[in-house]
Amino acid sequence: MNSAQNAPLSPKLTPNMGLKDRNTFGFEVSAELAYEISAANELPSLMADIQEKNLAWRVLGGGSNVILPASLPGATLLMNIAGQKILRVDEQNTYIAVGAGVNWHEFVSWTLEQNVPGLENLALIPGTVGAAPIQNIGAYGAEVADFIDSIEAFDTGAHAFVTLPKEACHFAYRDSYFKQHPQQYIVTKVAFKIPKIWAPRLHYADLAKQFIDSNTAPSAQDIFQAVCTIRTQKLPDPKVIGNAGSFFQNPVVPNTLFEALQKQFPEMVSYPDQSGMRKLAAGWLIDQCGFKGQTMGSVGVYQNQALVLVNHGGGTAKDILTLAQSIKDKVNKVFGVQLEIEPNIF
Ligand code: EPU
Repeated sequence: MNSAQNAPLSPKLTPNMGLKDRNTFGFEVSAELAYEISAANELPSLMADIQEKNLAWRVLGGGSNVILPASLPGATLLMNIAGQKILRVDEQNTYIAVGAGVNWHEFVSWTLEQNVPGLENLALIPGTVGAAPIQNIGAYGAEVADFIDSIEAFDTGAHAFVTLPKEACHFAYRDSYFKQHPQQYIVTKVAFKIPKIWAPRLHYADLAKQFIDSNTAPSAQDIFQAVCTIRTQKLPDPKVIGNAGSFFQNPVVPNTLFEALQKQFPEMVSYPDQSGMRKLAAGWLIDQCGFKGQTMGSVGVYQNQALVLVNHGGGTAKDILTLAQSIKDKVNKVFGVQLEIEPNIF
């Protein structure tokens, strides 16, 4: 792991860098000043300089949950901090520290190779380890917050490195303190705490279905494979069709609205929410409005999953946001439900 002691102090700077390959929508984007951050201790002097010059700035991980404009003024920090290491193992847990720039899926695969099961339900989620806590990535009945011990970050206000315990991160459904306060911390390392007692998590119907004919309990590796299979079928590979995964959050609505809607639409897909309210499947709502497989110029709604908006090539942030607005308007008109965009709009 790149330790703060022996790392170089200046990150590599590329002016007017093209970021088409660094955002999974595949938008043509030019970053005025792109800094490749390969070690945490490159941050203090860089951030002092950025703040002194009053430049706009943002951090980019894998670019898999962002909507980037054609030009990004000021500084764009490309998070490349590498390294993953099992720190210790006690009776209950395995503790692992991972650099923010590590690819999430590669990390999940590596944990299984190390015989540390637990993260398999989160296989094949695009993006980096450092981005995972920002939106608290989740899939198939698990979310990253379940496994986080603490976060190391650079506090851009206090100009100091901090270690934030999980409780300080305010994790919620696709949400965290970091998402609410995007300019306060730059995540440099994530410390995971993975319970040694393992049981398969199969309460998500799509996943359970994969094992319906099997007499033996699946291993973590089996679940990993099954999740990869489902995701590959349902979600477009960003290397082939530009996309940012789920484009809208699943909306949580009051029970009164849910009950009224259910009378009108008995087939509507929904789940009880922790808050006591009802979570509706946004993909179902959008599908019902007839958007699935539709295109609008260079962009469109993915044919196998209405929750995913895609760039067929040559699309821009403006095109995607125009399409998103027409989906929001229609869903609101038909169901009286307000959809919220999930990726970060820069
Ligand atoms: N549905 C439709 N039509 C569609 C899409 C979905 O009718 O076009 C229905 C499905 O039949 C299903 C329900 O809606 O009954 C939910 O769909 P799905 O199981 O595909 O899950 P999701 O709610 O659309 C969420 C996450 C995904 C995650 C999956 C699996 C959000 C916003 N999305 O999708 O996360 O992989 O569950 O757990 O919570 C992401 O965040 O980028 C992402 C892909």
